Amino acid sequence: MARVRLDHITQQFGKTVAVQGVTFEVPDGEFWVMVGPSGCGKSTLLRTIAGLAPVTAGDLFIGDRCVNNVPARQRDVAMVFQNYALYPHMTVAQNLSFGLRMRGVPPAEQAEQVRQVAKSLSIGHLLDRKPRQLSGGQQQRVALGRAIARRPQVFLLDEPLSNLDAQLRDDTRAELKQLHQRFGITTLYVTHDQVEAMTLSDRIVMLDQGQVQQIGTPDDLYRQPANQRVATFIGNPPMGILAASFDGQGFRVNGHAIAPPAPTSEPPTLVVNQVVNLGIRPEHITPAFEDEPALPFVVEVVEPLGRETLIRGVVPAHRDCDMPQPLSCFVLPRLRPTPGDRLRLRLDPNHLLMFDPGSGQRLP
Ligand SMILES: Nc1ncnc2c1ncn2[C@@H]1O[C@H](COP(=O)(O)OP(=O)(O)O)[C@@H](O)[C@H]1O
Ligand SMILES: [Mg+2]
Repeated sequence: MARVRLDHITQQFGKTVAVQGVTFEVPDGEFWVMVGPSGCGKSTLLRTIAGLAPVTAGDLFIGDRCVNNVPARQRDVAMVFQNYALYPHMTVAQNLSFGLRMRGVPPAEQAEQVRQVAKSLSIGHLLDRKPRQLSGGQQQRVALGRAIARRPQVFLLDEPLSNLDAQLRDDTRAELKQLHQRFGITTLYVTHDQVEAMTLSDRIVMLDQGQVQQIGTPDDLYRQPANQRVATFIGNPPMGILAASFDGQGFRVNGHAIAPPAPTSEPPTLVVNQVVNLGIRPEHITPAFEDEPALPFVVEVVEPLGRETLIRGVVPAHRDCDMPQPLSCFVLPRLRPTPGDRLRLRLDPNHLLMFDPGSGQRLP
């Protein structure tokens, strides 16, 4: 196993800058997830680490070795793609042991490693089958198993679950986590699915437009997003963003005062009438009591989820200069709201985040 260090890695295809000055280090044995919208450079970075794309600028280290000029097969990394390419003419067992055979591992040891990996991925009963006799989910497990059986220094996964149906994706995600706990191989996992990023990772690297937006634990990115892009990408349903102005004590949204911050908390360092984007997660919005300042809200779509009901709607325009502002919140199922209902909402002042409307950076 080995750490992986990227030092100002830039990747350019002609005039397209796919990745720009990316720097981070995955410590030995950790599981990191790179997340971000489609086209943000995730696959390019992974392919760079694997040695499938030459570095345009910057340095790449695996362990203590700079591997900029080391060919892919000498990097001791294993990569699994979205479209699990298995060898169609080989059985599952032969697919699993392929990398070991290539490295000249003795047959008895091969058999033992194949057995262990097959057991941890629950594919022991499939060892004699050919890939075409397997379901998509089973094939992807074999592809994962083949990569793990080699015991590479570094394990690279590019959206490995995105071809699986929902149930299988959840199961395989949990298995991947167990596999990592068991083998402890340094792992970089790429996904555009923020649930996978949150549930699997020691740390998340959030990319957008080829640049690192934030690196941190799932909790850091969820609670302390560096900017509005991270705030709205991480979390489902996404964080609500409301244009607001500071009235000297608290905020007004479309002219309505929302609950001022608790007297014990530091007042925001804003000037009166300063405009900010307020960020609030749906779970921090509740129906308001009669006698407290509240935000008017018009229900548009009601989505019962069982334990709670998700409501999407808008804060209506109040004056000519206002725009209706979309917002989502959860309510108890017994409230049974219907489209068109008007509600009064309380935004928990302890969970309001402020973003600069121009740069999107979070304000302290
Ligand atoms: N081989 C290539 N040639 C030209 N442009 C590429 C190549 N590979 C990727 N790109 C471009 O680089 C950007 C990042 O792509 P990619 O890394 O595949 O994004 P992601 O995996 O995050 O969806 C995109 O704009 C894509 O079109
Ligand atoms: Mg990709």
